[in-house]
Amino acid sequence: MTKLKILAGLISLMFATGCYYDKEEILYPAGSCNAAGSTYSGTVSPILNAYCNSCHSTAAAPSSGNNIVLDNYNSVKIQASNGMLLGTINHAAGHSPMPKGGAKLSSCDIAKITNWVGSGAPNN
Ligand code: HEC
Repeated sequence: MTKLKILAGLISLMFATGCYYDKEEILYPAGSCNAAGSTYSGTVSPILNAYCNSCHSTAAAPSSGNNIVLDNYNSVKIQASNGMLLGTINHAAGHSPMPKGGAKLSSCDIAKITNWVGSGAPNN
């Protein structure tokens, strides 16, 4: 009986905590990605911090074997303007695929960064 109660408790705990999907792809199924109006501070910078700056922060870049810094606007703007930012995240020919050794960014994140670059990569 006690075992049964523990089991019931565990199962309700799983329902209470474990089953919330907050993945973008699940909350917003394909086609409903809202990439319009992306900004540097609100959109691009958080994505780069989450997926790139373990290697591309000002502090980490030299010791990670690259000189590409992606933790401040001016440095990101350079990579946006020379085509490297979009080339690497799209795994385009002639570019090192990024994040290095990791999964490609979601198509929605790529669309958001593309939107920002397309609007001239402003410091907004
Ligand atoms: C695990 C470490 C690591 C992560 C995470 C990472 N990079 Fe890199 N990145 C590197 C290294 C090392 C290089 C040097 C070139 C190479 O090895 O391909 C590099 C090079 C680059 C370059 C220059 C490409 C070239 O052809 O010279 C760009 C642009 C870049 N990364 C962007 C990004 C972006 C954007 C992300 C996140 C989406 C990212 N990186 C995530 C390690 C990383």
